[in-house]
Amino acid sequence: MTHVSSPALLEVSSLAKAFGGNRVLQDVHLAIGRGEIVGLLGPNGSGKSTLLNTITGFEAIDAGSVRYAGQEIGRLAAHRIVGQGVARTFQLPSMPQKMSVIEVAMAAASAHHGFWETLLRGRAARRAEQAARDKATRLLDEFLLTHVRDLPASALSGGQKKLLGIVCALMGDPQLLMLDEPTAGVHPNLRNDIVQALLRLNRQGMTLVIVEHDMHFIREVCSRCIVLDRGHIVASCAPQELSSNERVLQAYLGGGTSQQDQATEVTP
Ligand SMILES: Nc1ncnc2c1ncn2[C@@H]1O[C@H](COP(=O)(O)OP(=O)(O)OP(=O)(O)O)[C@@H](O)[C@H]1O
Ligand SMILES: [Mg+2]
Repeated sequence: MTHVSSPALLEVSSLAKAFGGNRVLQDVHLAIGRGEIVGLLGPNGSGKSTLLNTITGFEAIDAGSVRYAGQEIGRLAAHRIVGQGVARTFQLPSMPQKMSVIEVAMAAASAHHGFWETLLRGRAARRAEQAARDKATRLLDEFLLTHVRDLPASALSGGQKKLLGIVCALMGDPQLLMLDEPTAGVHPNLRNDIVQALLRLNRQGMTLVIVEHDMHFIREVCSRCIVLDRGHIVASCAPQELSSNERVLQAYLGGGTSQQDQATEVTP
């Protein structure tokens, strides 16, 4: 797509994904440059979460390629993709029943660092655990979860689970972080803290792809937006160009009607 400095950190080409006869993603091409903050927009059901799931290995792709830092990752397992530096959060995070908040965050560190860390013994294992605990403590503080750190993670509110999802994703110091509706259900005060945290991470060099419906958030945070409509990318433009982009208007206002009808309906 346009606006991307070369070489891209993430390049998706001809990606397709169907569930049975439901062709959810079709011929998706996109490129994300290092250091970008890209908003991924589109109506409900347009395929945003599925696109994140296929890029991060949580759903197998049917066709196409996903390249990250020049390497093909399109058919790697999710844990291998995480190990390469691509982390993600979930739209509806689910948490284990019997682990506390800090334990979940610490477990995320070993998920990121992979199999070899599980072989550490003795002093090396204790050092790794202490490092994970220190990092989890710092991140839980940053995302205002210190007061619930010893509660079962499953007992958190929906918004708090979103925050813990971000903490877990950050435990592995990813280069590319993909967030699925990070502020949905989060209190406005906390939403501003998330905005500031994401901007800070980006200043430190992290590339961000953010699925969001909140246009204020998009304008505040994103330098570019990619818009999906029924599994196709229909626009890549600056946030301030969205409202005048014909294909974006059709995607949001057109519903299931023909393009001719949509154009009539959205004409003021
Ligand atoms: N695991 C699955 N099995 C079957 N169908 C699925 C699966 N995951 C997604 N879909 C279908 O794919 C389509 C796109 O869903 P997806 O969750 O990607 O949309 P979305 O753009 O993230 O929507 P929202 O804004 O509501 O979160 C929907 O029709 C959905 O029912
Ligand atoms: Mg979704």
